[in-house]
Amino acid sequence: MTKSASLTFGDKTVDLPVRSPTAGPDVLDIRKLYGELDVFTYDPGFTSTASCDSAITFIDGDKGELLHRGYPIEQLAEQSCFLEVCYLLLYGDLPSKAQMEEFRTTVTRHTMVHEQMHNFFRGFRRDAHPMATMVGVVGAMSAFYHDSTDITDPHQREVASFRLIAKLPTIAAMAYKYAIGQPFVYPRNDLDYASNFLHMCFSVPAEPYEVNPILAKAMDRIMLLHADHEQNASTSTVRLAGSSGANPFACIAAGIACLWGPAHGGANQACLEMLREIGSVDRIPEFIERAKDKNDPFRLMGFGHRVYKNFDPRAKVMKESADEVLELMGIHNNPTLQVAKELERIALEDEYFISKKLYPNVDFYSGIILDAMGFPTAMFTPIFALSRTVGWISQWKEMISDPSLKIGRPRQLYTGPARRDYTDLETR
Ligand code: ACO
Repeated sequence: MTKSASLTFGDKTVDLPVRSPTAGPDVLDIRKLYGELDVFTYDPGFTSTASCDSAITFIDGDKGELLHRGYPIEQLAEQSCFLEVCYLLLYGDLPSKAQMEEFRTTVTRHTMVHEQMHNFFRGFRRDAHPMATMVGVVGAMSAFYHDSTDITDPHQREVASFRLIAKLPTIAAMAYKYAIGQPFVYPRNDLDYASNFLHMCFSVPAEPYEVNPILAKAMDRIMLLHADHEQNASTSTVRLAGSSGANPFACIAAGIACLWGPAHGGANQACLEMLREIGSVDRIPEFIERAKDKNDPFRLMGFGHRVYKNFDPRAKVMKESADEVLELMGIHNNPTLQVAKELERIALEDEYFISKKLYPNVDFYSGIILDAMGFPTAMFTPIFALSRTVGWISQWKEMISDPSLKIGRPRQLYTGPARRDYTDLETR
């Protein structure tokens, strides 16, 4: 039976078609509302609004479930790897052996950046935040790769996707090297994606550097767990920017800018800084009280999520990785880690956090791992950005090939002055 909903406003009634998704709640199609009833809907923050059709990622926030193309994140984290998940997100299915090999080779062959980009980096102040550098450099890719900016050409869209997935780790590593005054390290195509990134960040020309396979596996997992998360703020930003026909490099730069905020991707940096500020276990109650105080803007970073009202499934996997990495690095009594463990325990038992369904999110643990690996906090969000690039580009490609694509153009509830007449300066 086809479902519909009817809405009466004033003396008119309109039947609204109801669309049933593969999973998740039904969706009311309100597109004809304005035309037939002359009203808008009001939903700041998009808490009840589906902005698009998408077949990429599904989240059940109450169950704490995350599926990419139908596959549970826990299975992918356990059995797959970041590059295979990239293929899955981009093309919709797991690759055959031959497809995987071809994809791996293609991505690997695009890891170098245009040599002139090195000069572009040098225009930034040494103390620039690497996210500021990344917003600029990724946006500037459209000035370096003209042959992949025609969005009407599927081949150019494909090449832009490869370039973005392949070059973002190089760009993030260069932003890091530039900030610490070390020479840029060129990518090495004999290394896998995660090992190559660690190599570009931590090796120096003066001596050999061996990538530890356990750290490479943990890095790969961090990337995999951040690869996509349906219509979050940065992905919606990429889609909105792309809906006007902007080129993919400009759109991804917009996504990076949005991700930077502390309520989104910036939370991993903010979380570790908070743990350090708390400093010792005995100060936790003071910070818990502040988080509960309506008059204090302080929030427990790494807690809460717009969609998850249960444990973030990525956080569970990330926690296991954190234990492995800390064990490997011989970190047992680190004060930041002690604060994190105790904070998690107390918050999960506290009535405020229980009643508001505030659980640790992925950012609560990722910062602990990245810190143990030797990354400064300023690099946490760039690592999130390079990992999420595949999600952004997959969503952008899906949108561009959707025949019903329209420029994103929200309406508003105007609260400014009604029409009034201009008065001459002399008479005001
Ligand atoms: N600490 C204390 N209280 C919180 C927290 C927190 N971290 N998060 C939410 N709350 C409270 C709010 O004060 C609010 O209380 P109220 O109903 O009494 O007013 C209630 O819980 C709901 O919070 P909202 O802000 O309305 O929830 P929203 O869905 O808009 O926000 C968000 C989600 C932004 C993630 C929020 O939980 C937050 O700021 N968390 C800290 C930052 C963070 O960790 N962000 C990472 C998100 S995950 C990611 O981007 C990968």
